[in-house]
Amino acid sequence: MILLRNAKIMTSSKLTDILIDEGKIIAIDDFITAKATKILDINGATVIPGAVDVHVHLREPGFEHKETIKSGTLAAAKGGVTTLMAMPNTKPVIDSMLHLEKIKSIIKKDAQVRVFPYASVTIGEKGQEVTDIKGLAPFVKGFSDDGVGVGNLDLLRRAMISVKQFNGIIASHAEVFEYVSTPESEVLAIRQELELVREIGCRYHFCHVSLKESFELIARAQSEGLDVTCEVTPHHILLCADDVCLDTNKKMNPPLRSIDDVLATRRALLDGVATIIATDHAPHTPLEKSRDFASAPNGVIGLETLVPLIYTEFVYKKQATLSDMVQWISINPAKRFDLPCGELTVGGLADLSVIDTESSIYSEAEIVSLSKNSPFIGHKMYGKNILTLVAGEVKYVDNKKVKAYEENR
Ligand code: DOR
Ligand code: ZN
Ligand code: ZN
Repeated sequence: MILLRNAKIMTSSKLTDILIDEGKIIAIDDFITAKATKILDINGATVIPGAVDVHVHLREPGFEHKETIKSGTLAAAKGGVTTLMAMPNTKPVIDSMLHLEKIKSIIKKDAQVRVFPYASVTIGEKGQEVTDIKGLAPFVKGFSDDGVGVGNLDLLRRAMISVKQFNGIIASHAEVFEYVSTPESEVLAIRQELELVREIGCRYHFCHVSLKESFELIARAQSEGLDVTCEVTPHHILLCADDVCLDTNKKMNPPLRSIDDVLATRRALLDGVATIIATDHAPHTPLEKSRDFASAPNGVIGLETLVPLIYTEFVYKKQATLSDMVQWISINPAKRFDLPCGELTVGGLADLSVIDTESSIYSEAEIVSLSKNSPFIGHKMYGKNILTLVAGEVKYVDNKKVKAYEENR
């Protein structure tokens, strides 16, 4: 049994204790006297459900020099992310039961938070042959060819029919290859894919949407009643093209957009067109990122900064409430992909993040991820995670902020 002392739950200002046993919250009360093996005094910090990030590149197997399942999930735990979905653009691509079983065995051995791997839509993410969706569907929470768009629309149609049949969901990296690196690439892909969703009616999710026109298309589809959702990333909310200045840590795909698009991205979130914030955590090593801008790889890390960036930008700056934030980073993604998420009630799952509302400056030295490619180094942030519980187990604790002791009676 674990006892959290002096907690504020969500927006409540009242101090309370939370007792946790066998992975669940078993009591919430003013002062709990039950015997616990471990007591964590969080000194008035705020408890929220752990974040659920549906767009993460853990890189293992195949690119362990960038990140591993161990290092990536340690980064997640540090950031207060208790559940994540891992993109399948590994080596090999997760496109068969064999590859899925292999990655699941590494997850079982090394993961510090809950990890649900995606399977790819096409074999090798090559866009030539649909994967065995029927065989894979019972064992994954989603299908994606993230990193590339599924260019072949006939193939995508076939995949959608299959995914619909097995009640799955596709997470689309919407990009038309021929137009790569122009805004039309995203808008056109979304338009084409929405046509297919209209025709077939499969559950569909757009990854990292970043343009005003894209949100307009998605909003229209939603108003027609199509089962379509989309996610936005912290970097597309917080940074714009003018910030790039050839800094390879600000190079990602989709790229940073105009200030108009940034404002549209924030509006999409506040208006409920985008219901999910996901990081697109995409580690690349310092050496890879030290190449010149044109040849450096796309991607930024994000697991360790999701919670404080969103807290700072929306809650601290009073643009939205803490409840809105928890919807975007925890409840909505969990619902959409049928993932576990902690409700802060007695009987609820003890997947929790505790946030410190004081400010701190994000530094490269504190990064747990193997790669350091964050565009937010040096940023002042409020709402940093100081304690993470997954199924009631401590997966991260900031010992300067949390007093931990074993009960001695
Ligand atoms: O920036 C990105 N990085 N965008 C992608 O689509 C792929 C990802 C990666 O895998 O590095
Ligand atoms: Zn992508
Ligand atoms: Zn991605």
